[in-house]
Amino acid sequence: MEVGTTTHRLALLGTGDYISDFVGPLGLPTDIDKFGTVVCVAGGFAVATIMPIARALKERGNKVISIMGARNRELIFWEEELRRVSDELIVTTDDGSYGRKGMVTEPLKELLESSTRIDRVIAIGPSVMMKFSARTTEPFGVKTIVSLNPIMVDGTGMCGCCRVSVGGETKFACVDGPDFDGHQVDWDLLFARQRIYLEQEETSFEDWKRQHGF
Ligand code: FES
Repeated sequence: MEVGTTTHRLALLGTGDYISDFVGPLGLPTDIDKFGTVVCVAGGFAVATIMPIARALKERGNKVISIMGARNRELIFWEEELRRVSDELIVTTDDGSYGRKGMVTEPLKELLESSTRIDRVIAIGPSVMMKFSARTTEPFGVKTIVSLNPIMVDGTGMCGCCRVSVGGETKFACVDGPDFDGHQVDWDLLFARQRIYLEQEETSFEDWKRQHGF
C-alpha cells in the first residue's frame, strides 16, 4: 500500500531495481513452542507477518486457529496460504464485503468463550487492533503476544526512537522486541510516539510529490 514518501518510492521500483541498503533481521525471534491451541490474529497486511509464525507453530504440533481481517475484500490476500497452515481460518471484513462482517476481535471473543481451551494468542496488525485484541483476551487470562511497530530509525537500540513501555519498563522494540506481552503494553504511549513525526512525514511527502509531478 502506497502511503507516504518511502512506500511511494518503493512502489516505483521495477524488476531489477534495488534499494541501496537493507539491514536485518533485527530484534528477537518470535517465541515458537508447543503451547497447545494458539489463535493467530492478523489485521490487514500483517497476514504476511503471521504466516511464517502460524506455519512454525503448526510444525511444532500446535493447533492453530487463524483469524484474518481487512477493511474490505480488495485488501484480502494470502487467504489460501494461511488456510494451509491453520486448522481453522476465520476471515472478517469491516464492511462485510467478504467473510464475516466486523472486527477480528468478535470471533476472537467467541473462541475464548467457547469450550475450546485457548493457550496463547498472537495478534499482529495495526496498533489499535492489537490493543483491542489484548483487551479482549485479558479477562480470560490468555497470554497475548503483540508485535509492536513504533517508528524506528537506526534499528540497533541506539537512537531511542522505538522506545515503548511494557510492564512499566522502558524497552526498545528494535532490539528487545518486536514481540511483547500485549497485556503489559502502554498503548497510549505507543500511539502518541507513532505520531511524533506526522508533520515532517507530511512535508516530506508533499515535497516528494512536487518533485515527481504527482
Ligand atoms: S530504532 Fe533506534 S533504538 Fe530502536
